[in-house]
Amino acid sequence: MKQTLGVCYYPEHWDESLWHDDAKRMSELGLTWVRVGEFAWKRLEPSEGEFHFDWLDKAINILGEHGLKIVLGTPTATPPIWVVNKYPDMLSKDEYGRIRQFGSRRHYCFSHLGYIEQCKDIVTRLAKRYGQNKYIHAWQTDNEYGCHDTTLSYSEHAQIGFRNWLREKYAGNDNDGDIKLLNKEWGNVFWSMDYDSFEEINLPNLTVTEANPSHLLDFRRYSSDRVVNFNNVQVEIIREFSKAPIAHNYMGRTTEFNHFDVGENLDIASWDSYPLGFSEDRLETTNEEKRNFSRQGNPDFQGFHHDLYRSVGKGRWWIMEQQPGPVNWAPYNPAPLDGMVRLWTWEAFAHGAETVCYFRWRQVPYAQEQMHAGLLRPDSKPAQGFFEAQKVINELKSSKELITKKASIAIMFDYDSDAMWDIQPQGKGLSYFGLIFDIYSSLRRLGLSIDFISPYEKNLDNYNLIVVSGMKYMPSELKKRLDNLKAEILIGPRSSSKTKNLSIPSILPPNLSNFDVTVTRVQTLRPDIKISLKNRGNVKGYFENLEGNAKDLILTFDNQSVAKFSGNITYLGSWLDEDGFDDLFSNLCIKAGINIEIMPYGVRRRETSEYEFWFNYNAFDVETIHGVIKSADFLKFQK
Ligand code: GAL
Repeated sequence: MKQTLGVCYYPEHWDESLWHDDAKRMSELGLTWVRVGEFAWKRLEPSEGEFHFDWLDKAINILGEHGLKIVLGTPTATPPIWVVNKYPDMLSKDEYGRIRQFGSRRHYCFSHLGYIEQCKDIVTRLAKRYGQNKYIHAWQTDNEYGCHDTTLSYSEHAQIGFRNWLREKYAGNDNDGDIKLLNKEWGNVFWSMDYDSFEEINLPNLTVTEANPSHLLDFRRYSSDRVVNFNNVQVEIIREFSKAPIAHNYMGRTTEFNHFDVGENLDIASWDSYPLGFSEDRLETTNEEKRNFSRQGNPDFQGFHHDLYRSVGKGRWWIMEQQPGPVNWAPYNPAPLDGMVRLWTWEAFAHGAETVCYFRWRQVPYAQEQMHAGLLRPDSKPAQGFFEAQKVINELKSSKELITKKASIAIMFDYDSDAMWDIQPQGKGLSYFGLIFDIYSSLRRLGLSIDFISPYEKNLDNYNLIVVSGMKYMPSELKKRLDNLKAEILIGPRSSSKTKNLSIPSILPPNLSNFDVTVTRVQTLRPDIKISLKNRGNVKGYFENLEGNAKDLILTFDNQSVAKFSGNITYLGSWLDEDGFDDLFSNLCIKAGINIEIMPYGVRRRETSEYEFWFNYNAFDVETIHGVIKSADFLKFQK
């Protein structure tokens, strides 16, 4: 299937007289997909039981008759006021116990059973009505789970659900909750926190000082399971009436729920890519980096999520929303450099996206997003994004289908570890996402293509290098699987340092078989304190003291061991800076027989089966071994 483009469209925002012309222009532009419906609940059901599908029927027909394929969204991210009046306690609560009020979106609590019933009703009606519609070619469930910090809710319903979840998790012999078991697993003897019954367990907010980390972790896992359940309920209904594939649109750096678990029942993973805003406020990079890429986005943020969601989607993934120009919600909202919308689109294709949809067709003149660009200006004239989409469409005509090639390097991504780091960072600014992002960036600076793998991934064969880092709890079964591989394996800092419920294990980490290394002490560092390495680079932020007879691979300037190896397995006990990681990965790649190609600053390479792409994220032209790449442009050549 050749790569395609699409757009997000809100017929309910525009007078019907515009729909024909909009559809005609979309189709003339060469778009294939239109996503509609995901916020339209109030227009579809203005009051309980009163349904108005006629306008949506009409919009779908007009778009479909112009040859456009529709992605139909379920509208459950925006419950209308009558739903809230019906269930006032469906509103979620933040960690301070404050109600998250009606008046924007995502104001529901995933634990509210009444709200889930209400969603079932509207989703069933949509699925029944449009399940066999010839213009509906895909579905989207809800919109951006977790966006605006909405995974965790500290409501009464969450409390009830959490207690039941705990009863099941800590079930004793009679299959009912065994509170003693929970007390033991959480270590509640500490600070006299033992409970006598599950009814006494509150949510882990509003405590005087930090709550028990095991309590926090179970609440994170419970909350993740609620998202999975919420999604599965909708998926089951849609599947009953439709054969079209189902997607959800995930976000950048939203890690509070396990995307692999949500993705399991979906056909396609998609994500919403807003490179400028994300680089400005979702990354711990330096001000200088932010400034250098303020109109282009961080060169690794997009690729990172493309690769991660390719894995979440079991190979199938899309961009459901692509930034087309300046947005409204970031701390600063510059215009992308001319060329970047095209570059982001091609970069997504190079990482395996089947489709890129721009958000949105026309800039809307009212409400929260009136300052957010579309492909069209509010007066319907084309904006810069329109011309760049047009260019991509022309280029696609003469390009062969891009086929994803399995990478030789795999990085494991574990949402549970992300939760554990969040709960117990042990130092300001230290996060699992940050560590994995630094590792990813280093490998990308060496010109490499990367696959992410989930902790459940069974097929680890055929990788030359596998990186498992910061994975606080490593099931012994995973260790065994890694033991049997021929690939070079890097186990990074903090791996295997906790039990499943977040205590220190009886055998100190990393506890790897046939590998004599033990972490004897852990320390974290101020950002302005670095420990220099004997070769290139420094330790930053996090340092483990390592003991054992395994051979040293990296030493500090004063001969303390930073990484040790035995056969094909290396254990790294510290978080390294750019030079440190680049040096380590260059060495590991040589050992693993992987060819590296050091990238010029801000340039990234991606290989598909037949092509090689070189993307220049800089605001200036760059000289490479393949010639000059203009600013905000790329080279594409057959290998
Ligand atoms: C996304 C969201 C869209 C729109 C967009 C603005 O996060 O899904 O509905 O709000 O951001 O950039």
